[in-house]
Amino acid sequence: MLACVWWRDAVVYQIYPRSFQDSDGDGIGDLRGICARLDHLVWLGVDAIWLSPIYPSPLADLGYDVADYTGVDPALGTLADFDALVAAAHERGLRVVLDLVPCHTSIEHPWFREQPDWYIWSPVDGPPNNWVAAFGGPAWSRDERSGRWYLHSFFPEQPDLDWRNPGVVAAMQDVVRFWLERGADGFRLDAIDRLVKDAQLRDEPPAASAYAFPLHADAAKLARRYSLDQPEAIEALRALRAAAGDALLVGEVYLPTAELPRYLEVLDLAFAFEVLFVPWEAERLRAAIAPAAALGRVAWVLSNHDFDRLATRVGDENVRAAALLLLTLPGTGFVYQGDELGLANGPAGEPPRDRAGRDPMRNPMQWATGPGAGFTSGEPWLPLGRKPERNVEAECADDGSLLWLYHRLLAARRELGDGFRLVDAADDVVAYERGAHIVAVNTGDTPAAPPPLGELVLATHAEALTGGRLAPHAALLALQPE
Ligand code: GLC
Repeated sequence: MLACVWWRDAVVYQIYPRSFQDSDGDGIGDLRGICARLDHLVWLGVDAIWLSPIYPSPLADLGYDVADYTGVDPALGTLADFDALVAAAHERGLRVVLDLVPCHTSIEHPWFREQPDWYIWSPVDGPPNNWVAAFGGPAWSRDERSGRWYLHSFFPEQPDLDWRNPGVVAAMQDVVRFWLERGADGFRLDAIDRLVKDAQLRDEPPAASAYAFPLHADAAKLARRYSLDQPEAIEALRALRAAAGDALLVGEVYLPTAELPRYLEVLDLAFAFEVLFVPWEAERLRAAIAPAAALGRVAWVLSNHDFDRLATRVGDENVRAAALLLLTLPGTGFVYQGDELGLANGPAGEPPRDRAGRDPMRNPMQWATGPGAGFTSGEPWLPLGRKPERNVEAECADDGSLLWLYHRLLAARRELGDGFRLVDAADDVVAYERGAHIVAVNTGDTPAAPPPLGELVLATHAEALTGGRLAPHAALLALQPE
């Protein structure tokens, strides 16, 4: 069955809508802007777009605080604009994946007043336990109107829904059906390991060891036993699946690879965050990639709107090799807008727009040289990046650019066969077989021997292979030796 699903070997391009393309000069990207740039994405060669939340939002968490699940934020457009975007994408063979935020709403969502039972309240007058929010501070806040204390796994403006309440389940199933009927092809499920919490609201014990992924210092002090990742979450997910049919469900499950299989009973894909968070070192990469690849259905991702940009994390010198790695791993890959240009973390807004410090990963897309970078004719809502020369126009005109490398890699990956096997190589080299092909990535800063190679298909640098050695920071795709 997996053989014929559209997403199996697809590359999904993540659009952060407020920062992609502004069409009306208000400095905020919008749906019409996205529409106007679809042909570029077709040229690039991606198969689908994932839109970070487009719903009406008071923006406490820049859209991840949803005030209406079946509307479009007026700053981004209208439902008619959404319909036009889906039609234009589908005409071009691009699928559309929406961000669904099922674990919490905005505190301004009418449900918070009209359906208080759909939320999680403390049984006592105060926090009932020691849970902390992902962005720091207590996970419980007092609702000034009712005087009761509610749970929020993220900002206080994001009260957690109670998925043990059938009303919540039914309402969110309706949301899923609403967007599928409008042509959405799937959903990225936000913070999905937070869907259900311990029914008894027990205290988290102190953390016994450091968590594998970045955590706020407050959260890092506690274990993660009761406040998230409960077995009932999988049952709740089944309800979402029932509404979604065979639409793609890709989960943001913030857990190590070993914990993903139970989520994959219901989800099609889960992000392989372990690969995102390891340093750019061959041994660590191999150790993270092998178990994720063995699961068969992970979404490979090297950056997104929450973490340092790829160029910042791995360094400018490694962005080409990182692209080759990401786009030759087996299965589905996700590319975050701007990584194909080599954009690095940029300046934050003044004052910052995101209270959790993520402005630098969300600066506007750079389409051209000039004051608004082709993103806007107005004042951009977040400052532009620090390297204006990294833009689509300039990189399109230079066929040695990173953008062209993405374009070529996206074409070449269509020829890659099934199968994946890590192969032995020098210490600094990550090497694997993909059917008749072989991939070698030098993560180090000295030349290193690749595994035996056949004809070269594509390399990150003109001089990637010299004297039989793979140049520092270079990577290649070749045929297997005869
Ligand atoms: C996810 C999103 C992040 C958001 C959080 C709360 O982790 O990727 O941007 O702040 O959920 O919704």
